[in-house]
Amino acid sequence: MKKNTIATLAAMKASGEKISQLTCYDYSTARLVDAAGVNTVLVGDSLGMTMQGYEDTLPVTMEEMIVYGRSVGRACKDAFVILDMPFMSYQASVPQAVENAGRLMKECRANAVKLEGGKAVCPQIKAITSSGIPVCAHIGMTPQSVNSLGGFKVQGRGEAEARRVLEDALAVQEAGAFMAVLECVPPKLAALITKKVHMITIGIGAGAGCDGQVLVYQDMLGMSGEFVPKFVRRFADIGEEMKHTFRAYDQEVKAGSFPAEAQTYAKSDCSDEFLAELDAAY
Ligand code: KIV
Repeated sequence: MKKNTIATLAAMKASGEKISQLTCYDYSTARLVDAAGVNTVLVGDSLGMTMQGYEDTLPVTMEEMIVYGRSVGRACKDAFVILDMPFMSYQASVPQAVENAGRLMKECRANAVKLEGGKAVCPQIKAITSSGIPVCAHIGMTPQSVNSLGGFKVQGRGEAEARRVLEDALAVQEAGAFMAVLECVPPKLAALITKKVHMITIGIGAGAGCDGQVLVYQDMLGMSGEFVPKFVRRFADIGEEMKHTFRAYDQEVKAGSFPAEAQTYAKSDCSDEFLAELDAAY
């Protein structure tokens, strides 16, 4: 496979070929996702929940995004890498947004940044794209605004709300976004937006009518907790498999059956006579 770029992704949209995206936060997993041929990898600030155990994404810092983002950036040879701008790294001002977007690009070797919001963040999107940094917008349910949205809720319900989400999509595109994540948007509205814009739409809880789909990898592997959002499909139960395997390791260590000879450096041992000498001497 060859490197995914904004040009190859735009060509996929133009030809109706679907685009795959998964979140990723570490080197080992990113290598596997990249090798599997997934088009784009998102180092999402969802890492605050999946990797750090917070109940939302708000505590995530720029420094943390850079640590996780660098590991993913090093792993991805073909996948297009998008770094999330964490809460309060871009909302305060346009210069703050440009500076932090630049840090993510320079320090993580990202291919684009993502930020949440519609019309309200268009000045930031415009300034970041003018600096030569591709921007992925994120509209509909924007998790960084969980407190003002009153929870993780479907957006674009009802006529006024639907109009607002469509207007946000048109505004972020006008500001320069090459891609937008549509999160928890009703499927017909998401399909309408996808038809009306030339930027790429990536859905999560937005139906099959978007240009592509994203999922949090722990959700699709069955590694997250009990609560599974409606839009998640568990493609495997790796969480159960991991638990089962950790249990097997625990039992073998305790039974003394691990390590076996195959896992030792027995050939490098000294003679029994010499070891007996050592034993006597000390
Ligand atoms: O942070 C994240 O992982 C995201 C995706 C859910 C789109 O924003």
